[in-house]
Amino acid sequence: MGAKYLLRACALASLGAIALSKPVAPVRSAAFLEAQKLADPSYGPVPGQDPIFNTYWGKAPTWPGNLTDPILPTKKGPPGVDDQVWQNLLAAEWIIFEFYQQAVEMFNESSFIAAGMPNTTYERVKEIRNNEAGHLRIFQNQISETSVKPGACKYQFPYKDPQSFLALGTVLEISSMAFLTGLVQQVKLNTAKGAMLAIAETETRHEVWALMDIWKVNPLGGPSDTVFPYANEVLGSTGSLVVPGSCPKENPEYPSPNQHLPNLGASKNTKSLAPGSTIDLAFGDPTNQPKFAKGKQYYAVFFHGVANISVPIETCDWPQKNITVTIPPQFEEKGVIAAVVADTPGAPTKETVIAGPGIILEQPEPLGVKLL
Ligand SMILES: *[C@@H]1O[C@H](CO)[C@@H](O)[C@H](O)[C@H]1NC(C)=O
Ligand SMILES: *[C@@H]1O[C@H](CO)[C@@H](O)[C@H](O)[C@H]1NC(C)=O
Ligand SMILES: *[C@@H]1O[C@H](CO)[C@@H](O)[C@H](O)[C@H]1NC(C)=O
Ligand SMILES: *[C@@H]1O[C@H](CO)[C@@H](O)[C@H](O)[C@H]1NC(C)=O
Ligand SMILES: *[C@@H]1O[C@H](CO)[C@@H](O)[C@H](O)[C@H]1NC(C)=O
Repeated sequence: MGAKYLLRACALASLGAIALSKPVAPVRSAAFLEAQKLADPSYGPVPGQDPIFNTYWGKAPTWPGNLTDPILPTKKGPPGVDDQVWQNLLAAEWIIFEFYQQAVEMFNESSFIAAGMPNTTYERVKEIRNNEAGHLRIFQNQISETSVKPGACKYQFPYKDPQSFLALGTVLEISSMAFLTGLVQQVKLNTAKGAMLAIAETETRHEVWALMDIWKVNPLGGPSDTVFPYANEVLGSTGSLVVPGSCPKENPEYPSPNQHLPNLGASKNTKSLAPGSTIDLAFGDPTNQPKFAKGKQYYAVFFHGVANISVPIETCDWPQKNITVTIPPQFEEKGVIAAVVADTPGAPTKETVIAGPGIILEQPEPLGVKLL
């Protein structure tokens, strides 16, 4: 009898010990559990086969944009060869999707008509939002089951009316076209390269729609859009759109790796960013300014089409005196120009970049990006 009681006490004690030594599983919300179903690539609507990624007209987020939690790995093992690149792209896609989703919620059909835009504009904005939701799903499925698929953070966008929304949208679309020319250089699998090219083409259609229907300009952008090789530097410059501390803790650092470069833009009094214009450089966040070594020559390197042009800059009196530079007059006033400050002409490696990139929009007008 005594032995029986003892046995029970021991069993209880050891159970208690197991319970204490096990990590406490977090209590997960229903939305979190719903998001985990996305780990199965065959779950839910298929982009390219389901009309929701085109013609869903609701104001609520398009699936899977309504499932904002990270998707945890379902298998242990080494990451897929291109997982990190796709994780960066998925994290960036959440920004783009939310950019359109917030506009769908903030505006309606009348807002765009009142702003003098075609009566199809709101519908088109929803359709682009739906395409971007399709990108979320495509990118989730490109990440292997051994890696986390990043969830959404909270975002802040500097628009308040239809014009500023569409202007920023034009910049983001053409920036993502340039960004994908760099990202495609990071992936190993040919299938990944093909998929990224196809995504860049979709962003191009969005851009062309805005140039024709909204801005009513010639949509052609010359023989080649701009190649910019350092995709993570483009992502690094989008940091101001993410509310600090708002990302799910399971997300990898965004972007990874991140050089934490100072932003690069033109000073507030800039009148034109057309080729041939002389501008003062500005570096945004006062706590992250470039460091220039005394006596060393630095360059503003401008990328346009498939070429780049380096212009020596005078940094020895900075920050007492602004750094002034002329945008290469050789470039056509078309598409976009990406600019960095580098310590080597041509910025041949990402490590030679000191600040940037700044994205200079030339169409519909040579106006800058106000992402700073
Ligand atoms: C997400 O959207 C799908 C499709 O519209 C819907 O069935 C689901 O209930 C939504 N889930 C959440 C958490 O909003
Ligand atoms: C759009 O929103 C405005 C203001 O919020 C409202 O007055 C108007 O009726 C709405 N139009 C449509 C078509 O929903
Ligand atoms: C939208 O505008 C077109 C012409 O720009 C006009 O023909 C059409 O009737 C308008 N549709 C609505 C629903 O107002
Ligand atoms: C640099 O340019 C800014 C305009 O953005 C201006 O406010 C500032 O006074 C200029 N600094 C100098 C030293 O000229
Ligand atoms: C810029 O152009 C130069 C000269 O053509 C080239 O050597 C260099 O690699 C280019 N830079 C990048 C980052 O592509």
